[in-house]
Amino acid sequence: MTRFIIARDYEDMSEKAAMLFLKQINKKDNSLLGLATGSSPIGIYRNLIKWHKEGLLDFSAVKTVSLDEYVGLLVSDPQSYRHFMDENLFNHINIKMENTHIPNGLAANLETEVAEYEKRIEMLGGIDMQLLGIGRNAHIGFNEPSDSFATDTHIVKLTQDTREANARFFNSPNEVPTKALTMGIGTIMRAKKIVLVSYGVNKADALYKSFFENTNPRVPGSILQYHADVTVVADRAAMGRIIDEGMDINCSI
Ligand code: GLP
Repeated sequence: MTRFIIARDYEDMSEKAAMLFLKQINKKDNSLLGLATGSSPIGIYRNLIKWHKEGLLDFSAVKTVSLDEYVGLLVSDPQSYRHFMDENLFNHINIKMENTHIPNGLAANLETEVAEYEKRIEMLGGIDMQLLGIGRNAHIGFNEPSDSFATDTHIVKLTQDTREANARFFNSPNEVPTKALTMGIGTIMRAKKIVLVSYGVNKADALYKSFFENTNPRVPGSILQYHADVTVVADRAAMGRIIDEGMDINCSI
């Protein structure tokens, strides 16, 4: 089932989504959280850091698994997702670094790495709450539009659209890696709860197609219609097409 929370703006979206994570951690202090990168989750992490500093959140028992990582970037590279997660969250809270898991895009054997990552998630007890952003082409993690849904963590060739969208973070478009490691659709769907955040008009089609058209691997986000517990937190612009087309949504503001 999908529940929609319409936010006023980016700040409101970030606070509302962060609140869901606060509740999750307060309910289960050793939760396994699935985390995401991109510009959408940054505000959530800012709120979590703030609440931690105010003494409202304790991450000492929390464990995390990240959705994805580029292949071939050094951990020290500002564009690596390990660097992103350290800078935007982990360095500012009391999480134990050994409890933060990210696929290793520098592993000598990437096939072994993805298989082991999948096993690790299972051994950690499965994901309690997974945070997702969504790409313009409705990719989730780095699960790009394809002919079939990839189930487990795997190596993926990035589409031109995704590389162009992510070029804004790099000095030049050529520097955007061509491959990444990503949790699969199955990995994501096995999470007990999913929180998807999205803002801005350029996500309006991706959101609409994901939740109001037939499920299709060409629209990876559309698989989420089959998950039992999804909360979409999005601003008015990202919800624009869904609202304009008068879709019947289970919604709160
Ligand atoms: C990247 C990430 C995705 C993310 C997407 C959207 O491609 N791999 O997990 O959802 O970007 O990013 P943004 O939130 O910046 O639009």
